[in-house]
Amino acid sequence: MRQVLSVTSECAPLVKTGGLADVAGALPGAMEGEGWHLRTLLPAYPAVLEKTGKGKIAHKWNDLFGHPATLRKVAYNGLDLLLLDAPHFYNRPGNIYLGPDGKDWPDNPERFAALSWAAAEIATGIVPDWRPDLLHCHDWQAALAPQYLRQAGQNCPSLMTIHNIAFHGLAPAERLGALKLPSEHFTSEGFEFWSYISALKAGLVSATALSTVSPTYAEELTSPEFGMGLEGVIASRKGDLSGILNGIDLTVWSPKTDPNIAPFTGPGGKARNKKKLRQAFGLPEADGPLTVVVSRLTEQKGLDLLLAALPTLLAEGGQLALLGSGDPGLEYAFRQASEAPDIAVKIGYDEPLSHLMFAGGDAVLVPSRFEPCGLTQLYALRYGAIPVVARTGGLADTVIDANNAAIRAGVATGITFSPTTAEALETAIRRLCGFYRAPDLWTKLQKRTMQHPVGWDASAREYAALYSRITG
Ligand code: ADP
Ligand code: GLC
Repeated sequence: MRQVLSVTSECAPLVKTGGLADVAGALPGAMEGEGWHLRTLLPAYPAVLEKTGKGKIAHKWNDLFGHPATLRKVAYNGLDLLLLDAPHFYNRPGNIYLGPDGKDWPDNPERFAALSWAAAEIATGIVPDWRPDLLHCHDWQAALAPQYLRQAGQNCPSLMTIHNIAFHGLAPAERLGALKLPSEHFTSEGFEFWSYISALKAGLVSATALSTVSPTYAEELTSPEFGMGLEGVIASRKGDLSGILNGIDLTVWSPKTDPNIAPFTGPGGKARNKKKLRQAFGLPEADGPLTVVVSRLTEQKGLDLLLAALPTLLAEGGQLALLGSGDPGLEYAFRQASEAPDIAVKIGYDEPLSHLMFAGGDAVLVPSRFEPCGLTQLYALRYGAIPVVARTGGLADTVIDANNAAIRAGVATGITFSPTTAEALETAIRRLCGFYRAPDLWTKLQKRTMQHPVGWDASAREYAALYSRITG
């Protein structure tokens, strides 16, 4: 079995703020069948240690970025983990990235530089009897690892996966020394970005290969509209960039066995879950579809457009149940909107409830301005909720619009719209409600969505081919 060190700042079911955790948590299981064993390097946040226990000590640092640290080897829920226990950096309450003021911890660059440094050292063989053939780095939090390898003259192959290019991991130039970065690479060809240090750029220029989480996003990333200033760097490495779709863990997301819902096998079984969902949100019965949103509330997700489109949804007899948290302005606006009897909002994070929402919802709305892959439309497909998505990134790659031709061919799985505007979303909502009023068509669509393959099989094979190519 060939060995990979997967480096990530979050990993389900231990610690999660978004889709990265789902992917980091599911990929190891998916790759095992392809002949690749993934060991996951993750910070030992308090919530993680609480679940895993302290495990065996694999290495100790007296001084990792100025503080002592311990590497702990543990197994949890099928995951083979190395936990970086650096209390000075990770022993903090609450959100893993944000302080109590809701802002990024000021030392986030150092916190995740330490993770990347540990990864690079593990690649050079500091863990007894183990050395990875490949370093798989996820997002900016792991992106300094290939740079650290490079400056140490080490050549362990590396794959840098972009889950979201909106987060660069920027630090002011004065922190070069603190981050153990050499000034000779602080150039436009290196990790300098508008006179800041960019951790993500360091990974993009120094990793052996790059990937992102859908083919369409891989294309989009080379354009100024989506590249967030890094489009030039990515375009210069186009030949090294792959787009591989995320899958979902079919053992966790199974309508037949999910302990959070009333289990079901076909569209008919959704009714009981819909009832439970309406109860959970205090929603009345309605003539139109019950639409749901499970999301971080950020600019990316385009939910301000949904606010603008709500009158259309209500006029069509539809309802909305939203679960999310994030931007205080959006939280406030949705709370206000929920004064309408057919709109219900829960601000917070609730994993079990999210399952019931996909199981009980008639449709899932995802009006993202950009979406590297997106997972909620995949859960929607699996649970027979019709995805209504902006035609961008991974959303475009996973949902087949129910136009006449696709309906006739029996391949339609949802509704896509473009551009990402309130008007286009309103049109999509009207189409959805039209379909809902035609029960035969609706059931046919639901059946089709539930058959759409959303597991890891095809993508695991693509990762295996990529891993093999990179390691030679
Ligand atoms: P992103 O990673 O950009 O947030 P994804 O669609 O890839 O978007 O993944 C989001 C993940 O987080 C999904 O598993 C989704 O169900 C989950 N999620 C988002 N917000 C919440 C919430 N408030 N409660 C429970 N789960 C949530
Ligand atoms: C990011 C993206 C999301 C993707 C997830 C997992 O958070 O915003 O589209 O599904 O990473 O790759």
